[in-house]
Amino acid sequence: MRRMSRDDADMPWSPDKYTQALHFAARAHHGQTVQGSEMPYLAHVCNVAMEVMTAIASTSDRIERPDLAVQCALLHDVIEDTDVTYEQVETAFGDVVAQGVAALSKDDRIGGKSEKMTDSLQRIKDQPREIWMVKLADRITNLQPPPHYWKAQKIREYHAEAKGIYEALGEANAALSRRLLAKIEDYRRYF
Ligand code: NI
Repeated sequence: MRRMSRDDADMPWSPDKYTQALHFAARAHHGQTVQGSEMPYLAHVCNVAMEVMTAIASTSDRIERPDLAVQCALLHDVIEDTDVTYEQVETAFGDVVAQGVAALSKDDRIGGKSEKMTDSLQRIKDQPREIWMVKLADRITNLQPPPHYWKAQKIREYHAEAKGIYEALGEANAALSRRLLAKIEDYRRYF
């Protein structure tokens, strides 16, 4: 993987860009925890970045813009889940990253959970493949044992939604789609 005219030109992604996005996300998500646990929310964000970086490092597909994928992974929930605005992301990281994060954010003006997801998937599909990868990585990360208070129907709906993500975006990256499919199959144990 070669990059042009950069100090880190021989690295698969830029450690400095990773750190900039991580610190921005850490400030934005400060005090938040993962749903149904006491885990700091930043652990979720780092896990999504790790899944994306593992896919970049795998030999299945060549990724054109690894830094876009890594930064959007770290920032993917800041617009949806914090006070951070599109403009703030754009100022700090530029318009391509900001548009990626915006596409990964559900639009609260749309009523209905499945309508929100359909709309978000459609907007992600209008983005570069690096953004599709973040959505795949996000759902891989979220297919953990469900919170104890989730009812059977909610678990089945989450499983079906994951399949929809796989079908819509799986072609973006072979390593992530294989991994998501395995997680989807495994999730049946919680039915
Ligand atoms: Ni997420």
